[in-house]
Amino acid sequence: MSRCLELARRGLGYVNPNPLVGCVIVHNNEIISEGWHVAIGQAHAERMAILALKDRSILSECDLYLNLEPCSHFGKTPPCADLILEHQFKKVYVGLLDPNPLVAGSGIQKLQEHGIQVETNILADECLTLNRFFYKFHTEKRPFVTLKWAESKDGFLAPLPIQRFQISGVGTTEITHALRLEHAAILVGVETWNIDQPLLSNRLFEGPSPKKFVLDPNLRGNYTIDSEVVVFNRKKTESNGLIQYVQIEEFDMLQGIMRFLCDHQLNSLMVEGGSKTLQSFIDANLADEIHTYKSKTGMIGGGIEAPKHQFDKINEVDLPDDIHMKFNRIS
Ligand SMILES: NC(=O)c1ccc[n+]([C@@H]2O[C@H](COP(=O)([O-])OP(=O)(O)OC[C@H]3O[C@@H](n4cnc5c(N)ncnc54)[C@H](OP(=O)(O)O)[C@@H]3O)[C@@H](O)[C@H]2O)c1
Repeated sequence: MSRCLELARRGLGYVNPNPLVGCVIVHNNEIISEGWHVAIGQAHAERMAILALKDRSILSECDLYLNLEPCSHFGKTPPCADLILEHQFKKVYVGLLDPNPLVAGSGIQKLQEHGIQVETNILADECLTLNRFFYKFHTEKRPFVTLKWAESKDGFLAPLPIQRFQISGVGTTEITHALRLEHAAILVGVETWNIDQPLLSNRLFEGPSPKKFVLDPNLRGNYTIDSEVVVFNRKKTESNGLIQYVQIEEFDMLQGIMRFLCDHQLNSLMVEGGSKTLQSFIDANLADEIHTYKSKTGMIGGGIEAPKHQFDKINEVDLPDDIHMKFNRIS
């Protein structure tokens, strides 16, 4: 199952809103084939692993491992449960059940009804963490929201008057770009957009960048850069070259943004500041995970305060200039 999870991670950034899935086929305690879901619309992991084998006549003597229940419905590809049945595997090991109501246990039920042994709940926590965006999307009907910021040793995001100010040091860019690769969408508030003119792209790792959004209710943003951006606002819906303006009608703009992302099958959102925008996600109880880089030595002495939260710290990594802390919401 650990190997399945490793393989599944190869699809990071490419499979949204699908889950990350890896598959391993074992014969006499030896892995004889592997597969993973490479990209949305392409073959599922188990199909890849089965098709990668030249001699499929031994599959009835093999076990199959998957970090997520096989699908049982016709989507962009035919049901994988049928393919597993066709080859009469000895036993199927499944990390977790699929929360998608179109599957939700029916893939496993189908296998068992046809006499295939199935064992579930293997490395369940790891499987859930890997596919946390997918689970959030299907169980709560909203995208998974990750907040990220850098703060000075004395707890500020930037000095005043408002200005661009570099806080984080060596090693933080890699983590940020890896997070961007994972997420389907990224958002900043209008002040950050105007002051920092951030690119918000993944430029360090092979793979896509998230779709870019700005939260700008009063259309105060300076949209001159040559890149595709969606501007959530109160005034208009219109397209102007690469800039798409989307009027949000909901009283609470964040709820409107969640709805828009769901409607567009974007299952994860990374919010990169500034403080007002980050705090509003925390206060609306819409944040799921927080990443902070706290400078070990850099002091600002006043200015824009870091957001306040009461999330659980689950990890701390000592970087050369900063402490990277990861927090999860208290469930
Ligand atoms: N250290 C870091 O990691 C980091 C990261 C990003 C930015 N920064 C710095 O932070 C500063 C900007 O932060 P900031 O807090 O002043 O501004 P910001 O969060 O970038 O933008 C704030 C504006 O966005 C709109 N907005 C935010 N949340 C909203 C909500 N829930 N509903 C409706 N509108 C919402 C409002 O626009 P209206 O006023 O038009 O209503 C609000 O005034 C800059 O100096 C930037 O360089 C630091």
